[in-house]
Amino acid sequence: YCCQGGKPSEVVLLRSFTYITPLLLLVLLQVVASDGVRAMMESALTARDRVGVQDFVLLENHTSEAAFIENLRKRFKENLIYTYIGSVLVSVNPYKDLEIYTKNHMERYRGVNFYEVSPHLYAVSDNSYRSMRTERKDQCILISGESGAGKTEASKKILQYYAVTCPASEHVQTIKDRLLQSNPVLEAFGNAKTLRNDNSSRFGKYMDIQFDFKGAPVGGHIINYLLEKSRVVHQNHGERNFHIFYQLIEGGEEDLLRRLGLERNPQQYQYLVKGNCPKVSSINDRSDWKVVRKALTVIGFSEDEVEVRTNIAAACMTPTFHFFVRDETRIHVDVLVVLFQLLGVNGTVLTEALTHKKIIAKGEELMSPLNLEQASSARDALSKAVYGRTFTWLVNKINASLAYTDDSYKNWSVIGLLDIYGFEVFQNNSFEQFCINYCNEKLQQLFIELTLKSEQEEYEAEGITWEPVQYFNNKIICDLVEEKFKGIISILDEECLRPGDASDITFLEKLEDTVGGHPHFVTHKLADGKTRKVMGRDEFRLLHYAGEVNYNVNGFLDKNNDLLFRNLKEVMCMSENKILNQCFDREELTDKKRPDTAATQFKASLAKLMEILMSKEPSYIRCIKPNDSKQAGRFDEVLIRHQVKYLGLMENLRVRRAGFAYRRRYEVFLQRYKSLCPDTWPNWRGKLADGVATLVKHLGYKPEEYKLGRSKIFIRFPKTLFATEDALETRKHSLGESPQHVLLSLPTIGIQAWWRGILARRRAQRRRQAADTIRRFIKGFIYRHQERCPENEYFLDYVRYSFLMKLRRNLPKNVLDKSWPTPPAALTEASEHLRKMCMQNMVWTYCKRISPEWKHQMEQKMIASEIFKDKKDNYPQSVPKLFVSTRLNGEEINPKVLQALGTEKMKYAVPVTKYDRKGYKARPRQLLLTANCAIIVEEAKLKQRIDYKALKGVSVSSLSDGLFVLHVPSDDNKQKGDVVLQSDHVIETLTKVAICADKINNININQGSITFTVGQGKEGIIDFTPGSELLVAKAKNGHLSVTAPRLNSR
Ligand SMILES: Nc1ncnc2c1ncn2[C@@H]1O[C@H](COP(=O)(O)OP(=O)(O)OP(=O)(O)O)[C@@H](O)[C@H]1O
Ligand SMILES: [Mg+2]
Repeated sequence: YCCQGGKPSEVVLLRSFTYITPLLLLVLLQVVASDGVRAMMESALTARDRVGVQDFVLLENHTSEAAFIENLRKRFKENLIYTYIGSVLVSVNPYKDLEIYTKNHMERYRGVNFYEVSPHLYAVSDNSYRSMRTERKDQCILISGESGAGKTEASKKILQYYAVTCPASEHVQTIKDRLLQSNPVLEAFGNAKTLRNDNSSRFGKYMDIQFDFKGAPVGGHIINYLLEKSRVVHQNHGERNFHIFYQLIEGGEEDLLRRLGLERNPQQYQYLVKGNCPKVSSINDRSDWKVVRKALTVIGFSEDEVEVRTNIAAACMTPTFHFFVRDETRIHVDVLVVLFQLLGVNGTVLTEALTHKKIIAKGEELMSPLNLEQASSARDALSKAVYGRTFTWLVNKINASLAYTDDSYKNWSVIGLLDIYGFEVFQNNSFEQFCINYCNEKLQQLFIELTLKSEQEEYEAEGITWEPVQYFNNKIICDLVEEKFKGIISILDEECLRPGDASDITFLEKLEDTVGGHPHFVTHKLADGKTRKVMGRDEFRLLHYAGEVNYNVNGFLDKNNDLLFRNLKEVMCMSENKILNQCFDREELTDKKRPDTAATQFKASLAKLMEILMSKEPSYIRCIKPNDSKQAGRFDEVLIRHQVKYLGLMENLRVRRAGFAYRRRYEVFLQRYKSLCPDTWPNWRGKLADGVATLVKHLGYKPEEYKLGRSKIFIRFPKTLFATEDALETRKHSLGESPQHVLLSLPTIGIQAWWRGILARRRAQRRRQAADTIRRFIKGFIYRHQERCPENEYFLDYVRYSFLMKLRRNLPKNVLDKSWPTPPAALTEASEHLRKMCMQNMVWTYCKRISPEWKHQMEQKMIASEIFKDKKDNYPQSVPKLFVSTRLNGEEINPKVLQALGTEKMKYAVPVTKYDRKGYKARPRQLLLTANCAIIVEEAKLKQRIDYKALKGVSVSSLSDGLFVLHVPSDDNKQKGDVVLQSDHVIETLTKVAICADKINNININQGSITFTVGQGKEGIIDFTPGSELLVAKAKNGHLSVTAPRLNSR
C-alpha cells in the first residue's frame, strides 16, 4: 500500500525496507512515481466499490438509468471521466485540464490490451490502430455527443496520439504536421462561439487518416457535412460569427487590413455583432490568427492563396457595411470599390444583381427590382453561398495537401474519425435539428447493426449458440425521413419544387396527408389532447429512437431551397478571384437541371458516409457534457440524464449485455484467478481450456452462468464475476499472511511481470525493426538495378557494406595469394583500386621486412627466374633451394690455387665435371668465379682461365640435366675450344656466371642438341633426349649423348 499515494510517511516506510533488493526498490519507486501503474492495477473489478465500475456491462442492475448515472457521477467526482460500455467509450467533459494526455500516458496505452488499463481515449485509439495493423481491416472511430460535450477535443487528442506514437520518417513528419495543423484552420473557418460552446464546430467532419504498411500515417482526407452557413449573416444573442472574421480584424497585420479595406472595430460590421458579443474572454483572436496563419503555411497554402482566401473572408463581412436604404420605395447599394476588388467582380453588375431579380416572362428576360426584404435576403444568400462554397474549397485544398502522392502504393489502411453533432433537442427545433437528428438516427442504425453483427460473429467464432437480442430497430424512423416519394425529405422537396403557392404550412399539411398514420409521426392536428398541449400548430413531432422532438416547420422550405438568385450566380461565375472562380462554375448556369435541395444533398452525403463507415470496423466515443455553465466539477444530473437518453446509452448497454456480461481469453482469465484453485495454482501445465474448466468447476459456477468458447470464457452475470473477484481479494490476503508468500509470491510475481513486460517490449521492438529491415531489403532488391533512390539506398549500402566486410575478412594473406572476393557491380572499379592498393601495401610491407642478404638472394632468384623460368626442366626444383655464396669451403680448394688467385676475390666456387672435347671423358674439376673471369681448376692447377670479356655465351639444355657449355672464341690460342661442364647445381651455377660475367642475356637454352667448337674449327655436338634417368655417354655417332629424366610436365 505504500505504492498508492506516495505521501511522505509512505516514502519513509519505503526507506525502512532496507532488505529490499535494488531491483525491487526500483520497481516500487516507479510505482510510487507513476499514477499510471496504479491505474493498471486498478481493474474494473477491484476498484468497483471505490469508483464504480469502469465498464457499465459490469453494473449489476444494467437496466437502471439511475444506477448508470450514479456510476458516472462516482467516477466523475474522482476525475475518472472515461467509462466503457463494452468497447464503447463514454466520456464526460471535465472542463479542466486533467493532465491525462501526456506523452507518458500515450506510452502507457501503447500496445496494451484494452482492459488491462483504465478506460481512456488512448486505449480506444490504440486498439483501433492495432486492429488495423494486425487484422488489416480499416477502422473508424465515431465520436458523438451534444454541443460542448468534447467531441472535437477528443478527435484532436486521438490525432495527437497517432502523431506521437506512430513511426515516422521525414515525409511522414510533414503529413503528421499537416494533419495536426488542419485543425486550427478548419476551426477558424468552421467553428464559432455559441451559447453552449465557445469553440463549437458548426459543421460535421469525417477525417480519414491513411497509414502505410509500416503503420506510419502517410496521408489523410476530410469530408465536411452541413456547414451552418446561416451563421454568416445571423447570430443569436450571445453568439458569434465564425472565428476567422474576428481573428482577421484583431490579429491581421496593418497593411493586410489596409489592403482588405477592413477596420479593427468589429462594431463596423453588422454581420459580426448580431449576437452582441464580438469579444470572448476564453478566446484570444489575435494569437489564434497567428496560429492559423502559420498552419496555413504548414498545410502548403501559397502566400497568394492565403491573400485571396482572406479577401473572401473580408468580402463576406463587408456587404452590410455599405448596404443601406435611401428611401422607402427604392433601395440603393453603396458598395466600396474594395468589395468589388475583393470579390473580383464588376461593381455595376454586382450592384444591379443585388437589387434586381431576373425573371423570364413569355420567353423574355426581365429585370424586376427587389424590395428591401428581398434585396436583404439576396445579399444574405450571396454571403452564405460565398462562405459555404469557399469553405468546401478550403477542405478540398487541405485534402490536396494531405493526399498520399506515392502512386506505386495504394494499399494503405485507414482509420476514420467522425466528429459529428449528436442529437439536438432545443426549445425551438428547425430544419438544422431535423437534419442532425436524422443523421443520428442513421448512426444509431449503423451502431446497432454493427454491434449485433460483431457480437454474433464473436459467438460464431467461439462456437457459442447465438441468442437473439431484443432491440428497437430504428430503421422505421430512418425510412420515415428518407424513403423515396413517401419520406419527409421527398415531401419537402416536392413542396420546394412544385409550382404554385407552396409554403411551410402546405408542407406540414402534405406531411399529415402522406405520413400522418406513421407510428413515429405526430402533428398538432393528429395528436391526442395531452400531446396537443405541448405542441404548436406549426410543428410536427418525430418519435426518435432516443426520444421525441418537435420541429417547427417555419423556414423549412427556404432552408431546403438554399437558393441564390440566378443573376447573382452569373456575377459570381464571372469573378476574377482565383478561388471564387473555382467555386462558382459556369456550367451551373447552363445546366438545366435544378440543383439538389439541401436535404437531398445531406441525405446523399449521409448515405455515402454510411457506406464508408460500414466498410470499416467501428469504435465509439460517446461524449457527455456535465453542465451547461462550462464549469469543472459540476455534475448536473438532469442534463446528463437527458444526454444518456438521447445518446441511446441505455440501449447500447442493453444490446451489449443481452448475452454475456464479461468475456476474456482463457490465458487472461486463468492468469488472474489461478490462485483460487489448488489444481491451477501456481501454474497450470495442461491445455488452457481445461485449466479454465477446472478452475470454474472448483469455484462452483453453475452451467447457466457461463459458457466456454474456443478461446474465451463467457460469463453471463456480473455477480458471478464479482464473487470470483471477492474470492481473489480474500485469497490475496491469505497469501499475504504468509511471509514467504509476501516475499516470494506477490513481489516476485510483480517483478516477473514487470521484467517480462520489458523483455516482451524489447522483443517486439526487435521484431518491428527486423520486419522493417526485411521490407527495406526486399524493396531494395527489387530496385537494385536502378539509379540510387530512396527505395534502394538501404539495399545498395548494405551490399557495399557487406562486400567491404567480407573483403576485410578475406584479404589476400601474402603477395602470392591472388584470391579476391567478387565485388557487386556498383563496386567493380573501387574493388580494382582496392586490390591494387592492397597488393602494393603487401609488397611494401614485405620489402620493408627483408634483410640485405635476403634481398641479395631474391635478386639472384629473380635473375634465375628471368633466365630459366618455363625454359629449363629442373628450374622449378631449384626455386625453393637457396643459392649459396660458394659450394666449396676454404679447405676444399687447394691453397696453391688460392695463392695463384692473389688479390683476386673469389665470388663463387663449385665442383663440376668436365667432359673432354674429344673422348668426352668425365673429369672432376672446380669452377671458380671471380670478378673478371671463370677459372677451371684441377686440384692445384689453374687449368683454364676464361675472361668474361671473352665468354661468348653459355649453352644449356632445356632438360633436367646439369650440362652446360661455356663458349669461348675459337681463334683465341690460349683457349682450347668451348668448355663442356656439368654441375649438380646448374641453375645456381649459371645464375652466378650470368651475374658475375654480366651475361644474363647470353645464356642460351637449347632443345635437342648443342653444338660447340672443339678447337681449330672443329665442332662437337651434344644430343639431349628425355629419358627415365640421367645418362651421359659418348654415342656411336661421336656425339655426346645426354639422357635426362622429365621432372615437370609442360
Ligand atoms: N477532455 C477534455 N479535457 C478538458 N477539457 C475539455 C475536454 N474535452 C472538452 N473540453 C472542454 O470543453 C470545450 C468544448 O469541447 P469541444 O469543442 O470538443 O466540444 P464539441 O463536442 O466538439 O462541441 P460542438 O458540437 O459544439 O463542436 C473545449 O473547448 C474544452 O474547453
Ligand atoms: Mg466540436
